[in-house]
Amino acid sequence: MSRTILVVDDEESILVSLRGALEDEGYEVAVARSGEEAVEGVDAADPDVVILDVWLPGMDGVETLQRLREKDPDLPVLMMSGHATIETAVKATKLGAYDFIEKPLNLDKLLLTIEHAVHARRLAEENRYWRERWGRTHELIGESRAIQELRDQIRVVGPTRASVLITGENGTGKELVARAVHRASRRKDGPFVEVNCAAIPEDLIESELFGHEKGAFTGAAARRRGKFDLADGGTLFLDEIGDMSLKTQAKILRVLQEMRFERVGGTKTHEVDVRIIAATNKALEAEIREGRFREDLFYRLNVVPIEVPPLRERVEDIPMLFRHFVREYCAEENREPVEVDEGVFEVLQGYPWPGNVRELKNVAERMVILCRSDRLTPDDVPPAVRGRTHEPRAGDLPEPGLGLRKARRLFEREYITRHLAAAGWNVPQAAEALGLDRSSLYKKLKELGIEVPSS
Ligand SMILES: Nc1ncnc2c1ncn2[C@@H]1O[C@H](COP(=O)(O)OP(=O)(O)OP(=O)(O)O)[C@@H](O)[C@H]1O
Ligand SMILES: [Mg+2]
Repeated sequence: MSRTILVVDDEESILVSLRGALEDEGYEVAVARSGEEAVEGVDAADPDVVILDVWLPGMDGVETLQRLREKDPDLPVLMMSGHATIETAVKATKLGAYDFIEKPLNLDKLLLTIEHAVHARRLAEENRYWRERWGRTHELIGESRAIQELRDQIRVVGPTRASVLITGENGTGKELVARAVHRASRRKDGPFVEVNCAAIPEDLIESELFGHEKGAFTGAAARRRGKFDLADGGTLFLDEIGDMSLKTQAKILRVLQEMRFERVGGTKTHEVDVRIIAATNKALEAEIREGRFREDLFYRLNVVPIEVPPLRERVEDIPMLFRHFVREYCAEENREPVEVDEGVFEVLQGYPWPGNVRELKNVAERMVILCRSDRLTPDDVPPAVRGRTHEPRAGDLPEPGLGLRKARRLFEREYITRHLAAAGWNVPQAAEALGLDRSSLYKKLKELGIEVPSS
C-alpha cells in the first residue's frame, strides 16, 4: 500500500525537490503552502506523515503542529527548519512533534526518519485497535447477584499474591475470570501467560513449562524459554489443570513451592516471580480420591477458590449477554446491529444451557448469521434451544451466500445435535450412529459449542 506524505512549506523549491525525491521512493505526495492550507487539507490528503516547516507565513509551524495533532494525535509530524532555536525545538517536541530535521535537508536521513515515522504510526494504530478489542472481548458481562459476587471476589483477591483455583462447568467464563484477576493485580502490566495443560502432549509439557536447552532432545534445535520464564513478573494461567499427568504435577508442585526450576537438559537453576491461576472443569476432589490428582498440589493451588456458576443459575444475565454477543458479532461482520425481541429472551431463559456462556454466544452468532431481517424473533431461536421436545426441522439447508465454512459449521452443529437428541444425549451412542470415535465427537462438540447436559 502506498503511503502519503504531506509536505508543508512556503518555499517552492523545497516543495519541488521533496516531491521528486519522495515520489522516487514510491510515496504519494501532497503539498500545502501554508499552515492554514495544511490544517484544512489534511483530512482530504489523509497523510501517513507530515513534514512541516517551522517558519511559515501566517499561522506558524508550531501552531500548525498543534492544530494537526488535535485532529489526529497519532499522525507523526516531522518539523524542519533552517535556523531553529533550541526554544522552538523544545516547544515542538513538547507538543508532540515526531522529530526535528535541519535544513539543508540530508535526503538519506530524511527518508529514514520518514520510514520510522510511518512505522510508528502503524504501531500506534495497531496498539489502539488491540487495546480496544482486548478490553471489549474480556469484559465480564452480567448484573446477577452471582456475577456481582464474582466481581467482588476478583477485586479482593486480585491484588494479593495468592494462588487462585477457578472451577466451573465448560464455557462458564473461567478464562475470562482468570484474566480479570490478573487485571486486578499489581502485576497487571506484567505478562499474562496461558498454558492449556490438556492440549500439550505429555512428553512436551515439561519443555513447554520450563523451557529447554539446545540439544536437550531430538528437535530441540535451539534454547527455548518456557512459560514460567515468560510469565516472570506476571501471571501464569494453568488451564485445564485436571488434565495434567501425575509426573508433571510433581514438577509443578516443586516450582510452586520454591519458585525455581531448571530447563529441560539444563543444570542452571532459574528463579522466577510468578503468580499462579489455575482452572479446571473437573471436580478435583473426586480426581484426588481416584488417585489422578495430587492432594498436596490441590491445596497449593486452591489457596483462593473461585467458583464460576453455570449460566442456568443466573438466567437474569441472559438478555444482557445475548445482546452483547449479537452486537459484537454484527460489528465484527460490519453489519447494522439487529434488534432483539423480548420474546427471544423468554425462550432462551427456558433452556438449561449445558454449554453455558460459550453456547449462548454460539447461538447468538448463529442467529445473526441466519437472520435475514433487522430483528430477531423467537422463531429465529434454533430448534434445539427452543425445546428438546421439538423435532429439529429436517432439510433446513442454510441459505446461499453464507460461505462454505459457516454453512458447514451450521450443518455440523445441527446434524450432530440431532443425533445426540435421538440418542437421549448419550455421547458414545451418538458417536456410533455418526460413525465417529468417541474422542473425535467430544472434540467436535467442544469446537462447535454443543454441550451435553450432565444429568
Ligand atoms: N460473563 C461473561 N461476559 C462476557 N462474555 C463471557 C462471559 N462468560 C463467558 N464469556 C464468553 O464465553 C466464552 C467462554 O468463556 P471462557 O473461555 O472464559 O470459558 P471457560 O470456562 O474457560 O470454558 P472451558 O471450560 O471450555 O475452558 C468466551 O468467548 C467468553 O468471552
Ligand atoms: Mg477455558
